[in-house]
Amino acid sequence: MFGGIQIGVLAACVVLFVPMGMAGYHLSRNKMLFFSGALFITLAVGVHLTPYFPSVSDFVTSVQSVVVFDNREDSCINLVNEVVWNVKPRIISSNVSDSSNDSVGYDKIWDWSKNGKVKGCDFEKLGRGDVKDLLNGSWVVVAGDSQARLLVQSVLSLLLDEKKMGMIMGDLFKRHSDYEIVVDEIGMKLDFVWAPYVVNLTNLMVGFKQNRTYPDVLVIGAGLWHMLHVNNASDYDIALENLRSSVVSLLPFSPELGTDGPVTGSVSVRSPHLFWLGMPMLINSMLNTVEKREKMNDKIWHAYYGALHNSRILRSYGGPLLLLDIQSLSWNCGPRCTNDGMHYDGTVYEAAVHILLNALLIESHQKLGSTEF
Ligand SMILES: *[C@@H]1O[C@H](CO)[C@@H](O)[C@H](O)[C@H]1NC(C)=O
Ligand SMILES: *[C@@H]1O[C@H](CO)[C@@H](O)[C@H](O)[C@H]1NC(C)=O
Ligand SMILES: *[C@@H]1O[C@H](CO)[C@@H](O)[C@H](O)[C@H]1NC(C)=O
Ligand SMILES: *[C@@H]1O[C@H](CO)[C@@H](O)[C@H](O)[C@H]1NC(C)=O
Ligand SMILES: *[C@@H]1O[C@H](CO)[C@@H](O)[C@H](O)[C@H]1NC(C)=O
Ligand SMILES: *[C@@H]1O[C@H](CO)[C@@H](O)[C@H](O)[C@H]1NC(C)=O
Repeated sequence: MFGGIQIGVLAACVVLFVPMGMAGYHLSRNKMLFFSGALFITLAVGVHLTPYFPSVSDFVTSVQSVVVFDNREDSCINLVNEVVWNVKPRIISSNVSDSSNDSVGYDKIWDWSKNGKVKGCDFEKLGRGDVKDLLNGSWVVVAGDSQARLLVQSVLSLLLDEKKMGMIMGDLFKRHSDYEIVVDEIGMKLDFVWAPYVVNLTNLMVGFKQNRTYPDVLVIGAGLWHMLHVNNASDYDIALENLRSSVVSLLPFSPELGTDGPVTGSVSVRSPHLFWLGMPMLINSMLNTVEKREKMNDKIWHAYYGALHNSRILRSYGGPLLLLDIQSLSWNCGPRCTNDGMHYDGTVYEAAVHILLNALLIESHQKLGSTEF
């Protein structure tokens, strides 16, 4: 005869060990998402049954540890941008008499901070094999200005060899145009959408919604063009708030749908992974035109930065998008990492890509590489 306690213990074992086993089987992201959803419903049902079956409370108590585990991961998501830089002169090629090559005469090494909390998150730079596993079969869309294009370059150089990279660079950097590529080997499609203004991003969201097709990973970011050509932070704020609502309206589990929204409870609806590509630090004296140096000054930069937070588009301010913190990366890499005070060296965007990949790993509850051998 089974008592309530035994059933509770059995349920706890299922909840604790099945996910571990499945992680061992190297599930795809979608399967893990489905499983997380199923687990969530189980938990929800469990919680609702608790008052009626006192013995079920054993089950619920043991489930706490799973919930706590998830909280830990949530806090890691908040630390994923904690990167430190070590920028130092390269001994061999340092050339005091010729400073024109300064920016290439420096080693720029980055890693996640080693302070306690961040260390505990085990962030790591992923190798090509792991990146391929993670992005296998996905549709990735990166939309924005030239910063976004540089991010695409960094994503692709993690996936393609140097020869292939050399062949695509011309097309990728065709001025003011879109770019698309399918990496056949892993069935990944990557689209770069030229969208220099926030309103262009909003239109893109409307397009996704109309077509009812959503990328698995979406990275968007714009601001510099608006700063130069509109130069009005409150207008930028309004544009961001519009973008925020159009992004939120894409989400299957959006808070604004309420409890009787059309898709509530359907675990099969995928939720895309959403990122905001932050603005870089601008080094005013290095900007390459007088107009830029006048309009893109520190004061307006801070006003735009404030508008970004004010619009609540970022997850840390209650919004839908996780920040890829180019501002902190570029500030900490510093003036040695840019030639024009606006576009930074590849290594800055490479760090942003690894931040993105680690965030994807956390969100998909999938540990890569652990079953390879
Ligand atoms: C340093 O720069 C000068 C001037 O450009 C050049 O003549 C010299 O060969 C360089 N030295 C090294 C070690 O690169
Ligand atoms: C700067 O470095 C690049 C690549 O290392 C080299 O091709 C170029 O000649 C250098 N320029 C000067 C002025 O030394
Ligand atoms: C990508 O996923 C498919 C199906 O899940 C699998 O057959 C294939 O081996 C994977 N490719 C890579 C490079 O991991
Ligand atoms: C972006 O929006 C601006 C302002 O509405 C518009 O003039 C421009 O054509 C748009 N660009 C693209 C690439 O859609
Ligand atoms: C929507 O579909 C049309 C036609 O297939 C396509 O041209 C357009 O790029 C799609 N838009 C988005 C945002 O996916
Ligand atoms: C800035 O934009 C806001 C909102 O669009 C507008 O009300 C305001 O008049 C603009 N300010 C200037 C100086 O153009």
